[in-house]
Amino acid sequence: MVRINLTVDGSSVSDDVEPRMLLVHYLREKLGKTGTVVGCDTSNCGACTVHLDGTSVKSCNVLAVQADGADVATVEGLATDGRLHPVQEAFRECHGLQCGFCTPGMIMQSIALLEENPDPTEDEIRQGLEGNLCRCTGYHNIVKAVQRAAATSPAGAAQ
Ligand code: FES
Ligand code: FES
Repeated sequence: MVRINLTVDGSSVSDDVEPRMLLVHYLREKLGKTGTVVGCDTSNCGACTVHLDGTSVKSCNVLAVQADGADVATVEGLATDGRLHPVQEAFRECHGLQCGFCTPGMIMQSIALLEENPDPTEDEIRQGLEGNLCRCTGYHNIVKAVQRAAATSPAGAAQ
């Protein structure tokens, strides 16, 4: 076992973990953060996307021990004071989800995308989300949601 100390959604946590434990399993099984989901076993789907020190990562592709000392943000930490994050709100308004399984990862990746490029073109949005798969929507409304977030809350969309 290895001791790790990190911040997850603003809270400090400290745990002993197996060196082989994946970050996504740590989040879900040790911290109960089941909003971050596992959609594949090939690092393809992006459903497990979180932010690690401000950078989006597929948390099934990162060991929990690699997050030692880091600041991890998951979809569960986005809403503040009962209010959805602007990107969550845009997904809701634009019906950017159907079954919702891809949505946590899509939202985390969209936020990272908007942090890098606050006014992306449609092509840039599609490229920025190409590591996140959706089986339901055909992506159209997801792209619209990111455009909406960029247009309606340009300063706040990435926060
Ligand atoms: Fe599919 Fe991580 S669970 S990429
Ligand atoms: Fe079902 Fe994207 S909404 S996988």
